[in-house]
Amino acid sequence: MSKDKVQIFDTTLRDGEQVPGCKLDTEQKLVIAERLELLGVDIIEAGFPISSPGDFRSVTEISKLVKNVTVCGLTRAVKKDIEVAADALKYAKRPRIHTGIGTSASHIKYKFNSNKDAIIEKAVAAVKYAKTFVEDVEFFAEDAGRTDNEFLARICEELIKVGVTVLNIPDTTGYCLPEEYGAKIKYLKENVTGIHKATLSCHCHNDLGLATANSIAGVANGARQIECTINGIGERAGNTALEEVVMILRQHPTLGLDTNINSKLLNSTSLMVSQKMGMMVQPNKAIVGANAFAHSSGIHQDGVIKNRETYEIIDPADVGVNESSIILTARSGRAALAYRAKIVGYELTKIQLDTVYQEFLKYADTRKEVVDNDIHEIIETSGINIKA
Ligand code: KIV
Ligand code: ZN
Repeated sequence: MSKDKVQIFDTTLRDGEQVPGCKLDTEQKLVIAERLELLGVDIIEAGFPISSPGDFRSVTEISKLVKNVTVCGLTRAVKKDIEVAADALKYAKRPRIHTGIGTSASHIKYKFNSNKDAIIEKAVAAVKYAKTFVEDVEFFAEDAGRTDNEFLARICEELIKVGVTVLNIPDTTGYCLPEEYGAKIKYLKENVTGIHKATLSCHCHNDLGLATANSIAGVANGARQIECTINGIGERAGNTALEEVVMILRQHPTLGLDTNINSKLLNSTSLMVSQKMGMMVQPNKAIVGANAFAHSSGIHQDGVIKNRETYEIIDPADVGVNESSIILTARSGRAALAYRAKIVGYELTKIQLDTVYQEFLKYADTRKEVVDNDIHEIIETSGINIKA
């Protein structure tokens, strides 16, 4: 069965870089952009050109560098922003302007002291103006997660009339439940005249830990673009993690969706972004965390040694990890000890293993982890006559 493609819009260099203390310079951004192109992302959001001369330069240089990816620059629904973004994108082979405005009741009231009709007017004017510079114009309805669906549909319909190519429905505050976000996308698919002329995009934040689930609910209901970052980095609790949505779509073929990402580069890309940003990846992070393919309890280790599939739903090689690891702790069993002892050079008989295992448990109870050097020490001092 041929699968529908979900476009991967990477915003590591824009929304991701909004993490406090993780500022990147242009040279670092260029290295990451080159890697993102290799990874197979469809769109790179390179920055917010009007925000600073440094960001303008980054967007310009990335536009010159990458050739097979759409390069996108963010703007507010403000003429000057759009002009500056168009200028920064002038070397891009495939430029996209990403403009938008807040659409929720609280944004309209507190940020803009405005009303719905005036917001639609501003949005339409921004898209029309952006279209005078580039063909590909994406619109974000900021705080769409808390915007009423009827108003959202109205604004989308008006923007389609003026040629918007992508309609971004951000859950800016990470508020929605997956059912709610999926229903929002479905509502737009079913109620906006001409919706087939634009791509609906999911842009979800992780304040309640639901960014990935919401993005998947979005594409399951008809969106065909996901905005995400490597390692899920971003302001507050972050954005949707690219590696998570890519592997969910791959592991669940019944969704009938896939991406252009070369998943074998996920682990090394995660490492590169983590190092460049000086932001550690939590060890239990799905897909790219140090423990994502590590097994330390006896029951799991016994299963994995017999057949990896007993406790792993992803082949580590598919995401660029050499192999699963068996970590020895006081929760480990004989199978794991025999397995690791063999790797470091000891082929233990059943009787020898019983003896060494008792010594191992005493040792392991005093440590967080038993490493290869410890195995040598335990075996050599256990009284059995064996050499590595
Ligand atoms: O979260 C958000 O609403 C955004 C927009 C600027 C797209 O990042
Ligand atoms: Zn965002």
